[in-house]
Amino acid sequence: MGRAKKVVLAYSGGVDTSVCIPYLKHEWGVEEVIALAADLGQKEELEAVREKALKSGASESLVVDVKEVFVKDYAFSAIQANAVYENRYPLTTALARPLIAKLLVETAEKYGADAIAHGCTGKGNDQVRFDVSCAALNPNLKILAPAREWGMSREETIAYGERFGIPAPVKKSSPYSIDKNLLGCSIEAGILEDPQVEPPEEIFQMTKAIADTPDNPEYVEIGFTKGVPTSLNGEQKNPVELIAQLNFIAGNHGVGRIDMIENRLVGIKSREIYEAPAMVVLIQAHRDLESLTLTADVTHYKRGVEETYSQLIYNGLWYSPLKAALDGFIRETQQRVSGTIAVKLFKGNATVVGRRSENSLYAPDLATYGSEDQFDHKAAEGFIYIWGLPTRIWARQTRKINESSSFS
Ligand code: ARG
Repeated sequence: MGRAKKVVLAYSGGVDTSVCIPYLKHEWGVEEVIALAADLGQKEELEAVREKALKSGASESLVVDVKEVFVKDYAFSAIQANAVYENRYPLTTALARPLIAKLLVETAEKYGADAIAHGCTGKGNDQVRFDVSCAALNPNLKILAPAREWGMSREETIAYGERFGIPAPVKKSSPYSIDKNLLGCSIEAGILEDPQVEPPEEIFQMTKAIADTPDNPEYVEIGFTKGVPTSLNGEQKNPVELIAQLNFIAGNHGVGRIDMIENRLVGIKSREIYEAPAMVVLIQAHRDLESLTLTADVTHYKRGVEETYSQLIYNGLWYSPLKAALDGFIRETQQRVSGTIAVKLFKGNATVVGRRSENSLYAPDLATYGSEDQFDHKAAEGFIYIWGLPTRIWARQTRKINESSSFS
């Protein structure tokens, strides 16, 4: 008896996921492997990927275009939450995982499979995200992760694949591990494992080097409706188009590069380089629009929620009761977050330079230092008296204590 009969495998076309197919069948006694590749805007030849799965022994090979759902249901939620892990990583890889898990579970249910599988190793965050998301969506499905158990080196994996007609990578494969989708690029391993080494220019795919960016700034206007970006330079855009175009525009100015040491859920620190031009600009712009349209207490409280929300995404808890509860909070806060933000892009920087909204809480008659000022200056005195009362009493008491101790 094998570990499972029919398995739906998250398939990328790479060596590891290809080798998973014969491995599941020959080592673990799986009868049927259905390969599933998600089109998340990674710009790969997905028809070739589809065929490769069949050649590797899959009984069925599916490619699903989920770019629009990815942006609308995952990226836009993250933007509304200003979600950045450890204050820097816009979660571009992490956001794709729960969506892939959802596809795996739906496909398993449709085809009557008893397990899902992925090619993650045992060291990363992605295995956690896949396993926990799948468990949340259908706890009856088994989860198989051959690469977590097989203990083969890179060379052994390639040799194993060759026995089953899986060709070794033609060109000397890149020393980097790269995960790419419409939202961004995550690059690690190779020389980047030395945290002292500056990332070589060759690794970047979405952003220009500062030396090659235009010598004049470019301005973009981003329109938001209830916290969701809907227009670019005055033109309504569908979600996928908006992200793709903004990636290009901001990347051309070298905006969106991140080089960081991050704390993985499994306890190790790793060095990762990210490119995420559109996400970086959109989150910055969104946060600014919130400053204009949310009250002070909601703004401040939301910052704490955002921190938790980012950790939930990073830690594989997209489908969890806490995440759902925070979604309710965030949805409520976004009702008036509509307006337009002007961003200046120049030499690697994105700077918000203007904002407007019909729901603006900025009151010129109160903010001005000119003669039109309507703010009641006299009222400040009474306010400060009561606001400072606890401090005054505390200070009085401190003096008393100090005096009596100096006499004893
Ligand atoms: N560190 C990122 C995360 O945990 C990306 C992981 C994948 N990175 C890669 N280069 N393959 O979300």
